[in-house]
Amino acid sequence: MTDQTITSVSRESRVFKPSAEFKGQANLGSFDNYRKLYSESVNAPEKFWSRQAKEHLVWRKPFKDVLQWKPPFAKWFTGGKLNVSENCLDRHLGTVRENKAAIIFEGEPGDVRTITYKQLHFHVCRLAHVLENSGIKPGDRIAIYMPMIPEAVVAMLASARVGAVHTVIFGGFSPESLKDRINDCKAKLVITADGGWRRGKVVEMKANVDKAIVNTPTVQSVLVVKRCGNEINMTEGRDTWYREAWVGAPNQHSAKAFDSEHPLFILYTSGSTGKPKGVLHTSAGYLLGAKLSSQYVFDLKESDRYFCTADIGWITGHSYVVYGLLSNGSTVFLYEGAPNQPEPDRFWQMIDRHGITILYTAPTAIRAFMRWGDNYVLRHRLDSLRLLGSVGEPINPEAWMWYHRLIGKKKCPIVDTWWQTETGSIMITPLPGVTPTKPGSATLPFFGVCPLVVDSDGKEVPRNSGGKLVITKPWPSMLRTLWGDDERYQKAYYSEFPNHPEYYFTGDGARRDKDGYFWVIGRIDDVLNVSGHRIGTAEVESALVSHPSVAEAAAVGRPDELKGQALVVFVTVKSGVEANDGLKEILRNHVGKEIGSLAKPDQVRFAAGLPKTRSGKIMRRLLKELAAGGEIKGDTTTLEDFSVLAALKQNDE
Ligand code: PRX
Repeated sequence: MTDQTITSVSRESRVFKPSAEFKGQANLGSFDNYRKLYSESVNAPEKFWSRQAKEHLVWRKPFKDVLQWKPPFAKWFTGGKLNVSENCLDRHLGTVRENKAAIIFEGEPGDVRTITYKQLHFHVCRLAHVLENSGIKPGDRIAIYMPMIPEAVVAMLASARVGAVHTVIFGGFSPESLKDRINDCKAKLVITADGGWRRGKVVEMKANVDKAIVNTPTVQSVLVVKRCGNEINMTEGRDTWYREAWVGAPNQHSAKAFDSEHPLFILYTSGSTGKPKGVLHTSAGYLLGAKLSSQYVFDLKESDRYFCTADIGWITGHSYVVYGLLSNGSTVFLYEGAPNQPEPDRFWQMIDRHGITILYTAPTAIRAFMRWGDNYVLRHRLDSLRLLGSVGEPINPEAWMWYHRLIGKKKCPIVDTWWQTETGSIMITPLPGVTPTKPGSATLPFFGVCPLVVDSDGKEVPRNSGGKLVITKPWPSMLRTLWGDDERYQKAYYSEFPNHPEYYFTGDGARRDKDGYFWVIGRIDDVLNVSGHRIGTAEVESALVSHPSVAEAAAVGRPDELKGQALVVFVTVKSGVEANDGLKEILRNHVGKEIGSLAKPDQVRFAAGLPKTRSGKIMRRLLKELAAGGEIKGDTTTLEDFSVLAALKQNDE
């Protein structure tokens, strides 16, 4: 895509100033304070980060250097040692937080559990012993494939405690995807559950693990949490019930200290090529980013009850369910199931039942609630809420206004937070009570973040013009590499601007308005954002061509009111295969089986041929215009065979 085509149609001009009431109690106090701190953070970053790291983290050994930066590789706080789980748990023991709720859990069937910091600590200590007893050493990888239950959080923290590297795999991924991820990072152990509740049904997680690990030679053992009581197979010598292993283990565990740059987790995310990218985050810098941003962006107070609706299988669940919140000693509300189970007011019911004060969710969910109707909301008081957040995709001003009026009752600030799996923590965001907000804009950079909107040469574009969003300086919670593939890391993030090898390319298009506010438009690479989930078109295409009926496939996005983007695939079939509705369904399910149901195409369209350039490249841009139902306006001069396009148009449904 060329810079000229990055245009932003949004011309929203409403501005919402922070209320005096919220401002009076906000952690940061005033916009001037933001300006001052921000300017220090970018003009004297080492001084700023050194102070923050000392203030916010518990160190076993102080760090020597703040930053070693040899683009594209960064090392933060070298020489220092700490334990991430200790920073989330032990630091609160012996303080007034000891008996405070760390987690309030509600299962989909309605079961509720409250776990205090002290209890969470002993849960984690016990599991840490179990991990060590099963041969886990620092640096070993552990795959976590679990429903949203407290044991998932315990598993992450226990892994961190023993210096293992966790990779959480979202429960919606198929056995095939699970297998690929386990093999990529060579995990030794899998922690899972018999099942999880979703829309009143059991998702058979252990059965999926069984299918996946037939082909994962590195997996030696599987720990299984009993959640649903569904029937499962236990393989002797390999599978152990979590509870049985856990029950005899001691409540105390003396944690080792690890280097600042010790790997903490790998999280797989889609890129523009077929294979998911194993984003690697390390310990101190990541934790500092997650902790500091949580405190300021959510304006955390001791009495808050915070609800983030993201699954721990995504980065939002890592940073803003687990690490950022627990390190701040906050009370996190965890919900297992679907937002419309048993009725579309489940979230609002739970907010009232548990006195939730902060809600952090995604635009796609907000649009679903809008569609389900205001009545489901109006049945509930929602008067405990004081702050709302949005993440995952651009929020359209209509959804922003609905969120503001119906959920926030016009009194809760909305923080529209822009960031990525790779950035580890929130990068562009309003600070509540401080930053005036504009519906649809993530507003201004967080401390230490240097974003710029640039053209193809890396030159800043004039205000209000579209361009590529880059981050010009390193930040503590940045990804360190892609697991086992430094070269791909450099290519994917630090090769877009040869004149500026130190610019991190986000893959997003954006514009900046006259006030310096950022408006993120969305991805400009071959990655779709469907319901806030990143899906690589190449992944879907390779899943499709793995089906024996398919000759060629191209996946593109089409704007969708509810999902942000919908996934449309164009498929040519092999000769002799009948292209009919039955096959469409088979192909949808095939993609579901290969990747997971989140990647099932919304529409399958058959074509006699796909439009290609003379050099044989599929012209996705034309397919995108076709999928959107519009006319082909773009340049078609490089198209090899015009009849292909004519035939595709005729096939239009
Ligand atoms: O395109 C941007 C979009 O989501 C991408 C990151 O996706 P992922 O790594 O899965 O992380 C999602 C949760 C952090 C970004 O490149 N995105 C995320 N938040 C916003 C957004 N786009 C616009 N506004 C946002 N607030």
